[in-house]
Amino acid sequence: MSAVARALAGRFPREFVWGVATSAYQIEGAAHEDGRGDSIWDEFCRRPGVIKDGSNGDRACDHYHRVDEDVDLIAGLGVRAYRFSIAWPRVQARGEGAWNEKGFAFYERLVDRLLARGIAPYLTLYHWDLPQALQEKGGWTSRETTLRFAEYASEVGRRLGDRVASIATHNEPWIVAILGHEAGIFAPGLRSQKVAMQVAHHLLLSHGIALEALRSQGCRAPLGIVLNQSPIHPATDSPEDRAKARLDDGLTIRWYMDALLLGRYPDDVLSFLGEDAPRVLEGDMDAIRRPLDFLGINYYTRNVSGTGAPLDPVAAGKEVTDMGWEVFPRGLSELLIRLHRDYRLPPVYIMENGAAYRDQLVDGRVADVDRIRYLQSHIAAMADALEAGVDLRGYFVWSLLDNFEWADGYSKRFGLIHVDYETQRRTLKDSAIWYRGLCGEHAGMLAPRVAGG
Ligand code: FCB
Repeated sequence: MSAVARALAGRFPREFVWGVATSAYQIEGAAHEDGRGDSIWDEFCRRPGVIKDGSNGDRACDHYHRVDEDVDLIAGLGVRAYRFSIAWPRVQARGEGAWNEKGFAFYERLVDRLLARGIAPYLTLYHWDLPQALQEKGGWTSRETTLRFAEYASEVGRRLGDRVASIATHNEPWIVAILGHEAGIFAPGLRSQKVAMQVAHHLLLSHGIALEALRSQGCRAPLGIVLNQSPIHPATDSPEDRAKARLDDGLTIRWYMDALLLGRYPDDVLSFLGEDAPRVLEGDMDAIRRPLDFLGINYYTRNVSGTGAPLDPVAAGKEVTDMGWEVFPRGLSELLIRLHRDYRLPPVYIMENGAAYRDQLVDGRVADVDRIRYLQSHIAAMADALEAGVDLRGYFVWSLLDNFEWADGYSKRFGLIHVDYETQRRTLKDSAIWYRGLCGEHAGMLAPRVAGG
């Protein structure tokens, strides 16, 4: 293990949690087995042209059938935590009505196996796979869906709440609202700003109602939400570009943070939206501003905003990942320190961070040096934020496995572990070995010293 990794590990307190992350639709497969209903992603993938390689999550990493092997792989990495999501239509096919015992049995098995291996389960309730039957009743545009979500949350809490390390309501509500309902590039593929902002409100409202329901039934797991956040930098110093960057900051960061932590939407964004602002009923903002036990942040890159054509990072000579996202580790510390300054934050977890690269499996090895550098630089940025006073408690690499990367299908590989989709063979990439080393160094620092040693 290199001295660099040892020094890096030494910057984190003993309780700091290292983990890996996945989500249900991206890895499980078994999309039509054991009573699982369709989700909006099953339906979306059937539309011609929406998924780059024409693929879907029918088989994915076949994790549903390989859960034991996959838990062994997680344990082999030496991480202390695993973040996963529950597919709502697997445990309740239509998003209302009967619970599917076979679906719950799968997640109970997963959680029990993790615990048996000493790995803390971090559960996410909604990583984008709404039951299609609810979509047909309006999906997140309908206020009713917030109530269905709270019922689903309660049932998961009742069954698993005493065994998991935390429960996050939503993963990245901005993505669901905007990419799903305004840009139309993610399920359910709608294209309206007005609809998207109503959805954004309903997602936050459903989060608040779910927290209330979970707490009132005595759920012991810490409760929170996971947001995608990137600092927004103006393309130039011009007043126009700075104003645009400020507005985009409002739409992506302050909309969610102000609502969750201050109980209001930012005035500048409301006035920009005008008629497209959501209908907010009395009491909604109080429901949204429930105390959070933790805040999850997903960080990949920064955003550059301006009134001109979008900046092409490659043309500008920036280093990018295979997603075309600029590698910008400083943005992580900048973001965390800013959030810490502007809000009274609960404990924070980086629930996703990682990168896609064009990995090559050669003679049983993937020499993904770029990914190692990416992880190392972002973990260092996180340590900077910690040292600046941010209450950071854990870090999860996206992702455990190469998997179904939404509209990019299987064309983008984010895994620490390479998946051959034909044979379902898993191979540890060099980055997995590096991360295992980091976790080992950190764990080693915690081991009790031999007397006199
Ligand atoms: C995040 C998603 C996750 C994965 C990564 C690359 O926005 O939460 O499922 O697709 O991006």
